[in-house]
Amino acid sequence: MTRKAIYPGTFDPVTYGHLDVIKRASVLYDKVFIAIAPNEEKFPLFSPEEREVMLKDATKKYNNVEVEIFNGLVVDYALKKSAKVVLRGLRMISDFEYEFQMALTNRKLNDDIETVFMMPNESYSYLSSRLIKEASKLGANVSKFVPKNVEKKLKEKFKK
Ligand SMILES: Nc1ncnc2c1ncn2[C@@H]1O[C@H](COP(=O)(O)OP(=O)(O)O)[C@@H](O)[C@H]1O
Ligand SMILES: [Mg+2]
Repeated sequence: MTRKAIYPGTFDPVTYGHLDVIKRASVLYDKVFIAIAPNEEKFPLFSPEEREVMLKDATKKYNNVEVEIFNGLVVDYALKKSAKVVLRGLRMISDFEYEFQMALTNRKLNDDIETVFMMPNESYSYLSSRLIKEASKLGANVSKFVPKNVEKKLKEKFKK
């Protein structure tokens, strides 16, 4: 049996926190599909295609990790990929309520799909794409939080 998981999210942009989860998942599963949700309602800074390029670059060393853009329901996408697992990262208690709601809603939608939570290394547990964007916009050096290619793309976005 091939163990497949999908890791859905906005990834606007990918951070070392996401990458820590991806690294751990790539050891646990035979195949990990990173699924980029366009999430236009969140007014992302990067287009889905830009996010895809950054994620592909950041994960090219894992030969069992694939990156795709998806639309629609997470459970439908999991089914399409014949994955039984939806991976989510849990940083802090504050993530819990929303993730709990979403996991149970997804279970109602499809009881065959399991949500699995992964904890990143504690040195990444405070990282969020939102704060990194804010800091970068204000001119902070974000090289500790995101890979080189992402840092470069952030600089490009915010240069006047
Ligand atoms: N620093 C981090 N460490 C571990 N997991 C993270 C981190 N930042 C985000 N995540 C997790 O990665 C997944 C995707 O997050 P995100 O890109 O913010 O998309 P979403 O809009 O679905 O929350 C979520 O499960 C989130 O909890
Ligand atoms: Mg989030």
